[in-house]
Amino acid sequence: MHRVAVEYEARRPDAWQQSRIESVGGQAYYDRFGKNQDGQGFYEDPALDELIAHAGFETADSVFEFGSGTGKFAARLLQDHLPPTASYRSVDLSPIMIGLARQRLEPYGARAKVALSEGEITFPLADHAVDRVVSNYVLDLFSDTAIQSFFLEAHRTLRPGGRVCIASLTRGVGLPSRLVSSLWMAVFRLKPALVGGCRPIKLDAFIDSHCWHIAYRNILAPFGVPSEVWILEAIQVAPSARE
Ligand SMILES: C[S@@+](CC[C@H](N)C(=O)[O-])C[C@H]1O[C@@H](n2cnc3c(N)ncnc32)[C@H](O)[C@@H]1O
Repeated sequence: MHRVAVEYEARRPDAWQQSRIESVGGQAYYDRFGKNQDGQGFYEDPALDELIAHAGFETADSVFEFGSGTGKFAARLLQDHLPPTASYRSVDLSPIMIGLARQRLEPYGARAKVALSEGEITFPLADHAVDRVVSNYVLDLFSDTAIQSFFLEAHRTLRPGGRVCIASLTRGVGLPSRLVSSLWMAVFRLKPALVGGCRPIKLDAFIDSHCWHIAYRNILAPFGVPSEVWILEAIQVAPSARE
């Protein structure tokens, strides 16, 4: 079996438990936060604009979003970027978020399906089922092990050439954004709940170059809050590499 698949099997149960335990910004937090999530647009929207500009949603056929929140990003995709025949599916662990997303996505009928999860980092999809996996401002809540599981699941469920599209908090690059991310990290260490359990992360170490081709990456820091955008193309792992 390919190394990645072996690691995946070894880590999956652990990742699930860890994400449930360590995700301070988990269900109870996001149930309370609810609609306020859309107020984070002042720093999230420029990164999401950039993600949309480079993800090629216009040629996508099926999209899966992990941690869809209020469904704001999904509505934008379905309204303005996806072909009319493309489908959208997502999971989120907060029942309140699921309710808000279902309400928002009602006009898109059967094209958009949003499901409640228990926080497991396994996608309810068959192998090679979708051509885009999206996750915005979710991985920055996770433990390292859970992030690894996310990438393994994204690779399992994407068709070869399909893309995983990620926006997350990251470390600063210039002086103002370095100060903001250091301050954020200090607050996170002191009391993670004060920053919703999320913190600036670096994803480089999680991206296996045998599995992913970096199609695009960039760091933006509107109002000094640094976000990183990644678009990675799934490389088909040669059958010989699996043995
Ligand atoms: C910061 S919000 C981001 C929401 C949305 N992606 C956005 O950009 O507005 C994080 C979301 O991830 C969800 N979440 C956190 N841990 C999760 C998990 N293990 N599985 C599924 N959803 C999760 C939360 O319920 C919340 O809706």
